[in-house]
Amino acid sequence: MGRIPLRPTPAGNELLGLKTPPDWDKVFGMTGPLELEIGCGAGGFALEHARRNPKIRLVAFEWRKKYAREVAFRGEKAGLQNLKVIEGDARLEVPKLFTPGSLAVIHLQFPDPWWKRAHQKRAILQLEFTRFMLTLLGPSGRFDFRTDVQDVGERGLKVLEAAGFLNPLGPGAFHPADAEEAPSTRERRYLASGAPVYRARLVKP
Ligand SMILES: C[S@@+](CC[C@H](N)C(=O)[O-])C[C@H]1O[C@@H](n2cnc3c(N)ncnc32)[C@H](O)[C@@H]1O
Repeated sequence: MGRIPLRPTPAGNELLGLKTPPDWDKVFGMTGPLELEIGCGAGGFALEHARRNPKIRLVAFEWRKKYAREVAFRGEKAGLQNLKVIEGDARLEVPKLFTPGSLAVIHLQFPDPWWKRAHQKRAILQLEFTRFMLTLLGPSGRFDFRTDVQDVGERGLKVLEAAGFLNPLGPGAFHPADAEEAPSTRERRYLASGAPVYRARLVKP
């Protein structure tokens, strides 16, 4: 997406700054399980997951405007009524947009590893926010986590389990690849090169 110019129309701005969470049935014009993706990047997963699963409704967050707007544009062009892209910081906006128990799945794929200690406060999988994400999931809600960095995978699993998520495969266990899952943009690269991907699928107990 490097050479693509910034599209002029902001993605999902009408959903920012609301005093109460929106009526998602109205926003999408349809009902169905509500899913959240944090950091959709170039949107390989969001676009493909929404296309393969027309009955779910996916809200995809991306704070890089260029990516968010391009994914929103491509979703509209493909007629994906069940995809809503929002440009903004998911850590700030998600708490304002979803009520407890309203989400079926949260997807976090290949989060930035934030190598420098000073930047680690930007990570999504921090204990307090992870506990909060658990409250947003409904009964047997799921957390889909993928990374190419083993250390990020291991630390992420520890935080998810400490926050109260249940790992059906046992503490610290990664999940095998699932051919039914849409790959993210980054993941396609690793699948092509054979580089390892660490996957986890945890549930709300
Ligand atoms: C390494 S990329 C992975 C993108 C995509 N998930 C994939 O697998 O191809 C991580 C993405 O998360 C976005 N991101 C990181 N923190 C975010 C936040 N707090 N809110 C929204 N997006 C965020 C970054 O801008 C980046 O596009």
